[in-house]
Amino acid sequence: MKQFKFIFSLFLILNAGCNPAGDKASDNVVSPGWHNQYPGVYKSKVNTPEKFNLLSVAKHPPRFEAIEDMGDARIPIDLKEVRAFSKNGRTYLRFPLEKGEQIYGLGLNFKTVQQRGRIMRLHVDHYGGRDNGRTHAPVPFFVSTRGYGVLINSARYIEVYVGTGVSRDSEHPPVVRDRNTDPKWSAKPYSDNLEIVVPAGGVEMIMFTGKTMLDVIRRFNLYCGGGIIPPKWGLGFWHRTPTLFSDKKVEEEVSEFEKRNFPLDVIGLEPGWHSKAYPNTFMWDKGRFPEPEDFVKKLKDEGIRVNLWMNPYLWPGTKLEKKIHPYTGSHTVWNGTVPDYTIPEARAVMQEHFRKYQTGIGVSGFKVDEVDGFDRWLWPDVATFPSGHDAEQMRQTYGMQFMELADELFREKNQRTYGLIRAANAGSVAYPYVIYNDYYSHRDFITALINSGFIGVLWTPEVRSGGSASDWVRRMQTSCFSPMAMINAWANGKKPWSFPDVYQEVQDAAYLRMQLLPYLYSTFAEYYFKGTPPFRAMNLIEGFKADLGEEQGELNSTDNPYAVAIKREIKDQYMFGNNILVAPLFGNETERKVMLPPGKWYDFYTGKLAGEGEVITVKYGLDKIPLFVKDGGIIPMIPRIRQTKEWKDQPLEVRVYGTADGEFTIYDDDGTSYDFENGAYTMKKLIVKDGQGKIEDIRRDGPWSYSEVKWRFMGR
Ligand code: GAL
Repeated sequence: MKQFKFIFSLFLILNAGCNPAGDKASDNVVSPGWHNQYPGVYKSKVNTPEKFNLLSVAKHPPRFEAIEDMGDARIPIDLKEVRAFSKNGRTYLRFPLEKGEQIYGLGLNFKTVQQRGRIMRLHVDHYGGRDNGRTHAPVPFFVSTRGYGVLINSARYIEVYVGTGVSRDSEHPPVVRDRNTDPKWSAKPYSDNLEIVVPAGGVEMIMFTGKTMLDVIRRFNLYCGGGIIPPKWGLGFWHRTPTLFSDKKVEEEVSEFEKRNFPLDVIGLEPGWHSKAYPNTFMWDKGRFPEPEDFVKKLKDEGIRVNLWMNPYLWPGTKLEKKIHPYTGSHTVWNGTVPDYTIPEARAVMQEHFRKYQTGIGVSGFKVDEVDGFDRWLWPDVATFPSGHDAEQMRQTYGMQFMELADELFREKNQRTYGLIRAANAGSVAYPYVIYNDYYSHRDFITALINSGFIGVLWTPEVRSGGSASDWVRRMQTSCFSPMAMINAWANGKKPWSFPDVYQEVQDAAYLRMQLLPYLYSTFAEYYFKGTPPFRAMNLIEGFKADLGEEQGELNSTDNPYAVAIKREIKDQYMFGNNILVAPLFGNETERKVMLPPGKWYDFYTGKLAGEGEVITVKYGLDKIPLFVKDGGIIPMIPRIRQTKEWKDQPLEVRVYGTADGEFTIYDDDGTSYDFENGAYTMKKLIVKDGQGKIEDIRRDGPWSYSEVKWRFMGR
C-alpha cells in the first residue's frame, strides 16, 4: 500500500508551463508537465501517446518498493528548458545540454561509449559496423552526467541528435568562425541541445534522476521491472554444437568435456534439431533426435541443460502453422510465416506447442535468432499484421514479444530460464536473456559489454573461432568474464581444446569463472534487488576520467575534408560487479595500458598494489586476463568445480584486497526456481573492519551452499 500513498500524494504537475495535451498547445513549442510517479521518477505525456509502446510489450511492472528504498533525488535540469511539441504526426523533443555534459546509452553501440556529437536513428537491426542507431537493442534511453536520464517510451524508429543541431534560438550559441583564418573553425559547431523526433503524434517520456549516473540507471532498470537472477546453471559454461549434430554426437561431445575435465553446464542445439529449418517446424528431427525426451533427461542427469536455437518463422502448412496462420503477418521471412505475438491466441498456440514438445520435456530455454534483421531478411516496413500494429512497431518489439511469451511458460513451471536473444529493447531488463550477434570484433565486443550496462540489457562476447591460439585464449577469457561464457561452434565445430597448445590457459579461464560463481551470483542478485548492472562502464565510477579529449582530425580531401576531430575515450576495460576491473588483452597482445580509478587498486592474482588513480602498463602471459580489485574489495570464491551441480557444501574462500575496510553482500537461493521473489533466499554481509573479517546474517530463508568460511587477506 505504501507505494499507492506515495503516488497519490505526489501526483502533481511539476512544471506549470502549459498543458502538453491541449489541442492548441500541440502546434507550439511547450515545456511538458512532469508527474512525480515514484521517488526520482517523473512521467510526462506529450499529446496523446500511442497505447502500444515498449513498456506495454514488456509486461513486468515497476519494482516500486526497490525504487522507493533508494529515496528521492532532485531534478538537476531546469524543466522549462525541456521542450516538446507535435506536428503532422511527429513529436519533437528537446533537452538542454551544458558545456562538458556527457550523454551515454541510446542503444547497444559497439564503437563508442559517449554519445554526445552523434546522430542516430534507433532501429532494431543487426549491427552493421557503425554506431548509427541500427543495432540489436536500440533502447531509446539516455543518461546524462548531470544525474538524470530519460526513456522515450515509443516503439517507433526514433531519431536522436545528441548535441549536433544548432537552433537559432539557442541559449548558448556557438562562436561563428572564419575557416579561412581561424584554426579553431570546426565542422561540428557547439550545440547546446539533445533533440529527438518520434514519428508519432504523441509520446510518453519517463525521467529518472539520481545522485550518480549509476543511480539513474538503477532507477531505470527497476522501473522497467528488472534486473534478473539467472538460474545457477546459466552461469556455468555453455557450448553450442554444430548444426547437424545428432543426439549421439552431442552425447559424445559431452563425454569429451568430461574426459578433458572442462566445465560444462549447458549444451546449445543449433538449427539441426528441427525436422526442417529456415523456416522451422519446431518438431524434433526423427532421424537426428529419435527420442528427444530421453535425450534431454539423460543430459539433465549428467548436470547438463539443453538450450534450443530457433527463429520464430514457421514452416508453412504444418499442423502448428495452420493453427497460428490466422494470426500471422502479410509477409514471410525465409518463406516462414511470422506470428503476431501481440495477439493472445498466437501466443497461446505457440505456448501449447512448446509445452508439449520442448519445455514440457525439460528443455531449459531458447536462443531466439534473427529477430533483428538484416533488413533484407526481416519483413519489410510495408508488411501488415493482424493486430493492426505497424511493421515498424513489430520490428522494434519482436524480440521482447518472444521473451514475454517464453517468460510465461517458465514462470508457470516455477522454473528459471536463461537464454539468448538477438533483438531487445527497453523493458528487456526483466527478462533472462543475453544478446549476441554475428559481428566478431573482440575489441568492439568489450565496448558493447560496457554499453549494455547503460541500457538494461546483457551482452555476451561469445567465442566462435580464433585467428591464432593467442586470440582464442584472449576471447575465451573475455567470455568467461561476461554474463554468458560460451563457445558457439554452430558452423565450425570448435571446442575448448581446438588450440591444443593453449588448452591449459583456456581451461584455467573457465575454471576461474566457476570459482568466482559466488561473486557473480551475488552481483546478479544486486541487479535484481537494486537494478545495478552487473557489467558496466568505468564511466560509472565517480572521479574516473574516461574522456581522453579530442584529437584534431587531419585535413584530407578524400577521407576527412572537414578535418573533423576524433574523440578518444576508454572503451576497452570495464567493471565486473562492484569490485573487479577487467582489462582484457586482445589478439597477440601481452601488454596493455590500464586506467585505474581513484583509490588503490590491487592485482587480483597476487594481491599486490597495482596503482592508484593512474595509468599503468601491465604485462600478462597467456594464462591470465588482467584483473584488478579495489581497496577493501571482497571477493567470495569456491574451489574449482566443473558443473554448478557441485555448488553445494563448498568451502567459501573470502579474498580481501588492500587495507581499507569493506563490505560485500553475498546471496544464495535454490538456484532454479522463482521462490526468491517471495523471499526464499539467504543473504549475508561479509565485513572487513580493521583487518578482521566477520560474517553477519541479513536473511536466512533459503539454502546456503557453503560449508565453512575462510578469510584470505591477499598480499599479506
Ligand atoms: C546465426 C546465429 C548463429 C547461429 C546460426 C545458425 O544467425 O547468429 O549463432 O545460430 O545463425 O544458423
